[in-house]
Amino acid sequence: MKRKWTTEERVFTFCLECWTSRETYAKMQRVLAVIFLLAVFFHQSQAQCNSTNCVGPACRCMSTSTPGNLSPANTPQLVFLSFDGAVTTTNYDNYTYLLNNRMNPNGCPIGMTFFIYQEYNDFTLTHSLYHKRQEIATHSMSHRTPQELWAAKSANEWVDEIGGMKDALAKFANIPKAPIRGSRAPFLQTSGDQTFSAMKTLNMFYDSSLPTTDFVDPPVWPYTLDQGFQHDCLIPPCPSNKFPGIWTVPVITLENDGIRCNTVEACPQPKTLEETYQFLKRNFERHYNSNKAPFGVYSNNNGWFQSANFRLEGYKKFLDYLSSKDDVYIVPLGRGLDWMKDPKPLSQVANFFNCPPLTQTSCQPVSCFYDGEASEIGPRIMKSCVPCPDVYPWTGNPLGIA
Ligand SMILES: *[C@@H]1O[C@H](CO)[C@@H](O)[C@H](O)[C@H]1NC(C)=O
Ligand SMILES: *[C@@H]1O[C@H](CO)[C@@H](O)[C@H](O)[C@H]1NC(C)=O
Repeated sequence: MKRKWTTEERVFTFCLECWTSRETYAKMQRVLAVIFLLAVFFHQSQAQCNSTNCVGPACRCMSTSTPGNLSPANTPQLVFLSFDGAVTTTNYDNYTYLLNNRMNPNGCPIGMTFFIYQEYNDFTLTHSLYHKRQEIATHSMSHRTPQELWAAKSANEWVDEIGGMKDALAKFANIPKAPIRGSRAPFLQTSGDQTFSAMKTLNMFYDSSLPTTDFVDPPVWPYTLDQGFQHDCLIPPCPSNKFPGIWTVPVITLENDGIRCNTVEACPQPKTLEETYQFLKRNFERHYNSNKAPFGVYSNNNGWFQSANFRLEGYKKFLDYLSSKDDVYIVPLGRGLDWMKDPKPLSQVANFFNCPPLTQTSCQPVSCFYDGEASEIGPRIMKSCVPCPDVYPWTGNPLGIA
C-alpha cells in the first residue's frame, strides 16, 4: 500500500539530500561567522606574548630577533643536525664518519641529536653515541603507522610512548636519564595539547615536531610555549593551551627547486655530491646571512645516505664548510636551547660550549633474542648494555618485565 507523504516529510528528505533550505543555510552562515570570529579571537589572544607576560631569557615569545639583543655579528650561528629512528650497525658507521672527531671552534666535539625509537634500536651503539657527546632524545616507543593514529593519541598514551622510550634508553643503553630531555613525534604528527600535556608530566625540556613555512626568511628562533603555540600549524592539531617552560624548536622547512620540505628526504632530491652540498649550503646561508637563527638539518636515518653514497659525501662536504667558520657551532638541540636561556655573546661561547665531564658508564654488550611469544610484534633481536629483559620491551612495558 502506498503511503502519502506530508509536505514536512518531503522538505525534510529534500534538505537531508541537498541541504539548501534557505533557513538552514542562513543559520549555517551565522554559525560559521561565529566560529571564524572565535578563531580570530583565540589566535590574537595567543599572539599577545610580550615582555610583560613572558620575561626572558627563560621565557621567549616567537620572534625572529636574536636572544639577549645581541647583534648578529656577536651571535654564534648554531647548527642542529638530527637523525630520527633506530641506531643500527647500518647507519652507525655513517654517523661516526660524519662526526669523525670533528670539533667546534673551541676544540670540543660537535654534537648531533638522535631521536630514537625502540624497534631494531641497538642500545650498545646508542651508548657509544652518548659517550661521544651526542644527544639522545625520544621518537616514541612504537612509531606505528598510520600517521593518523598519532593525531588521536591521549596524554596517557603519549606518556607511555615518550616516557617509555626514555626509560628504555636509560636502562638498556645504561646512560643517565636526565640528559634525555627532547622529543620528536613520529611523522611529526602530534595530537596537540595531549602531546604537550604528556611532555609536561614527564618534565621534558623541548619538542621539535612542529614545522613552519611562514617563518623561514628571516627564520624564526625557537621559543617557549608559556603563551602558547604561535607559528603556522602545518600538521594539525597543534597545541592551543599554554605550556610554561616547554620549548618548541620549529622545524624550519628546507627549500630545493622552489619546493619546501620538513626533512632532507622530502625535498626534490639533489643528484650529485655537489648538488647535495649546494642544497644544504644555500639553505644554511639564509640563516647565516640574516638573523643567525639556528639552522636545522632534519633527517630520517635510513633512506638518504644508504640509497646514494654521494649524499653522505655531500653532507660531509657541507660539514667541512661549516668547520671552516669560527662563529659556527654544531651543537645538540638541547644545548642550543641552554644557550638561548643564557645567551652569551660570541666572545664567551667557547667557554659556554665547553666539554663538561661525562658520567662514565659501562656497557657489557649482550644480544637478546625474542621469539613470537616473548614479543608483541613478532620475533626480534635486541642489543643491550645490561642483561636481557624477560620479554621484548614495548609500549606499556618499556623495561620488558614478564
Ligand atoms: C601584553 O599582553 C597582555 C595580554 O596578554 C596585555 O594585557 C598587556 O597590555 C601587554 N603588554 C604590553 C607591554 O604590550
Ligand atoms: C654508509 O652506510 C652504508 C650502508 O651501511 C655503507 O655501505 C657505507 O660504507 C657507509 N659509508 C661510510 C663512509 O661509513
